[in-house]
Amino acid sequence: MSIAITNTLLEKTKDFSLEETLSFLANEFKDKVVFSTSFGQEDQVITALIGQNDLPITIFTLDTGRLFQETYDVFHKTLKKYKKEIKVYFPEASEVENLLNQKGPNSFYESVENRKECCFIRKVAPLTKALKGNEIWITGLRAEQSENRNDLAAFEYDAHFNIIKFNPLLKWTLKEVEDYLEKNNVPQNALHKKGFVSIGCAPCTRAIAEGEDIRAGRWSWESSHKECGLHQK
Ligand code: ADX
Ligand code: SF4
Repeated sequence: MSIAITNTLLEKTKDFSLEETLSFLANEFKDKVVFSTSFGQEDQVITALIGQNDLPITIFTLDTGRLFQETYDVFHKTLKKYKKEIKVYFPEASEVENLLNQKGPNSFYESVENRKECCFIRKVAPLTKALKGNEIWITGLRAEQSENRNDLAAFEYDAHFNIIKFNPLLKWTLKEVEDYLEKNNVPQNALHKKGFVSIGCAPCTRAIAEGEDIRAGRWSWESSHKECGLHQK
């Protein structure tokens, strides 16, 4: 069923602008379209499109409890600018307590398993709650962000979360994203000016040097994959 739906959606929206596609999805899947934001540059483009066009799409964020202050700052500015609710999903307190009681606050540096355990508790489990009962999940993924992402389609069936994923900025370049944000005066994370491109949790993100891979600053002590479980194949 899912592949047929993704193909139909692709076909139906092939001549639409981005705004038209978002609006079409919001009507077609009424109250079942959600957009996940981490307030990254791509996410801010999508939030601006939803906010400026007053589209009935639920925006949510996963507050892992370990985000940068700069991320909370852009979160706050975005609420003020678009006056649109951004729903927060937080990890289960008891799970975070158990993790820290058993392994301490920085267990993610000690092994890939530990890191994935933390990502599961703080991101994947809350995401599962956020997606439950919905039909379309909009993300800010771009193909050029990583090798894992360059064979994605705009509409993808995500078997893990049993939902259709829509990646509207898949083919955008970073320059196009930056130009859109500038032109539309969209709030941005202050860390972008300090060499941070892809921004996640504070202890697991660093700035990158010129010429480094876009995702080199994420879990930089690990050598492979660099995905946290939100986006599975
Ligand atoms: S991650 O898997 O490595 O963390 P990345 O930071 O590249 O993902 O972001 C890709 C997309 O995943 C974002 O555009 C957004 O849709 C979603 N996402 C990532 N982190 C979060 C978060 N903390 N809250 C909500 N959505 C998120
Ligand atoms: Fe934990 Fe780091 Fe994953 Fe954030 S990115 S959930 S701090 S391991």
